[in-house]
Amino acid sequence: MKESMRILTSETPEHEGEEVELCGWVHARRDHGKIIFIDLRDRSGLVQVVFSQDIARATELRLEYVLKVKGAVKKRPAAMVNDKLPTGRHEIEAKTLEVLSVSEALPLPVDTDGYEVNEETRLKYRYLDLRRERMQRNMRVRHAATQFIRNYLSDKGFWEIETPILTKTTPEGARDFLVPSRLQPGKFYALPQSPQQYKQLLMVAGVEKYFQIARCFRDEDPRADRAYGEFTQLDVEMSFVNQEDILELAADLFTKLATVVFPEKKITRTPWPRLSHKEAVSKYGSDKPDLRKNKKDPDELAFAWIVDFPLFTEQTTTDFFHGSGSAKFAPSHHMFTAPHPDDIALLDSDPTKVRGLQHDMVLNGFEVGGGSIRIHQPEVQEKIFDLIGFSAAQKKQFEHMLKAFTYGVPPHGGIAPGLDRFLYAALGEKSIREVMTFPASSGGKTAVMDAPSEADKKQLGELGLKTIA
Ligand code: AMO
Repeated sequence: MKESMRILTSETPEHEGEEVELCGWVHARRDHGKIIFIDLRDRSGLVQVVFSQDIARATELRLEYVLKVKGAVKKRPAAMVNDKLPTGRHEIEAKTLEVLSVSEALPLPVDTDGYEVNEETRLKYRYLDLRRERMQRNMRVRHAATQFIRNYLSDKGFWEIETPILTKTTPEGARDFLVPSRLQPGKFYALPQSPQQYKQLLMVAGVEKYFQIARCFRDEDPRADRAYGEFTQLDVEMSFVNQEDILELAADLFTKLATVVFPEKKITRTPWPRLSHKEAVSKYGSDKPDLRKNKKDPDELAFAWIVDFPLFTEQTTTDFFHGSGSAKFAPSHHMFTAPHPDDIALLDSDPTKVRGLQHDMVLNGFEVGGGSIRIHQPEVQEKIFDLIGFSAAQKKQFEHMLKAFTYGVPPHGGIAPGLDRFLYAALGEKSIREVMTFPASSGGKTAVMDAPSEADKKQLGELGLKTIA
């Protein structure tokens, strides 16, 4: 006889009167003496399973045991209907039960939203924490968003291209993570703060339309909206475009994505409002204003563009890009951002007045993306390096960019919305870590595995390293 096929708990209403097989976890257990009720949980939700006493094993069942149950899908009596559950009009009358695995008592509850549990415990047992409905939703939504992005951009002719993780620093203003080289002891790779330089090199390579769901690494202090260590960007770059083309593409992509992935949410205004940096700061006191009509409404998405940023900010810290400390100016976005063509002359006379072709994507008061039209003339790029006070040695670090720019480079530009930051803002989550599957803690420890950890002497020796701390 053909084995019955497993169905998901959410599918039970479609199988009324039939025999089905279900697999999942014991989410709740109610012992009524002659009968025992189990809420069986799988990735699609819950269904009630009824065991009569003669399936003796049911009495031994404990929370989070993994079961295979065969039984009949029955309509519940009217008085027993649970309207809160999508499967609440039905239950499974169990005929056979197999315990696939047992579980110790969990160190944290998984049937709550989890906000009440200490974050350290949640991250230590992330694989359990992820069982809760809210975290399953966040993973599902993230998958849907990523998938939507891939399809949307592929349909528009973009190529998804991976760029190296072991690389040279891409300074975006944060500290780098360094990886020691075994083959060249005393030398280091840096993990990319973003694929900025590679995506520009891909434009030189003639790719024209690039995207990547890119992992970025930055050693900076975490905040509610900023992950420690690593995060993910939707990195996009295009050739032969102006700023308008980039804004149009990104607004269309995120408007459609929001409609598909968050059908319950309303976008406050389309087309998205566009504010100059000056206007945003003078009117709202922020370069990432929250333009929701009702800030208490979790189902409102207020997107906006901020443009016309000053190209430079005056240097306040002494150490910019671990550099010479003597620089007066730092780039507002990054050093590859093109100056506004009308302001080129000001580069010599009054650099603080130069506008950059930068654009920030704002959602509900968060900067969810940033990008710009890039410099594609080597002489302008050198001038910017000078203005930010690069030494000859620092310029040499970017010699590959200047060199590449001597071989016919298309005008280009792009944007990189932060995927985690976007989902955090759109879902109105309490911390960006809620939309990341295995985030590092705010103290920089990785979830579950507790890295960083010490390396043994032999490993250090091979790398030509000695710890002094
Ligand atoms: P930028 O540094 O502005 O630009 O980063 C772009 C977007 O990435 C997200 N982001 C972060 N998300 C979570 N945790 C962090 N620590 C973090 N840092 C940044 C934000 C931000 O808006 N290469 C350029 C993009 C470009 O010019 O195309 C860049 O990285 O959502």
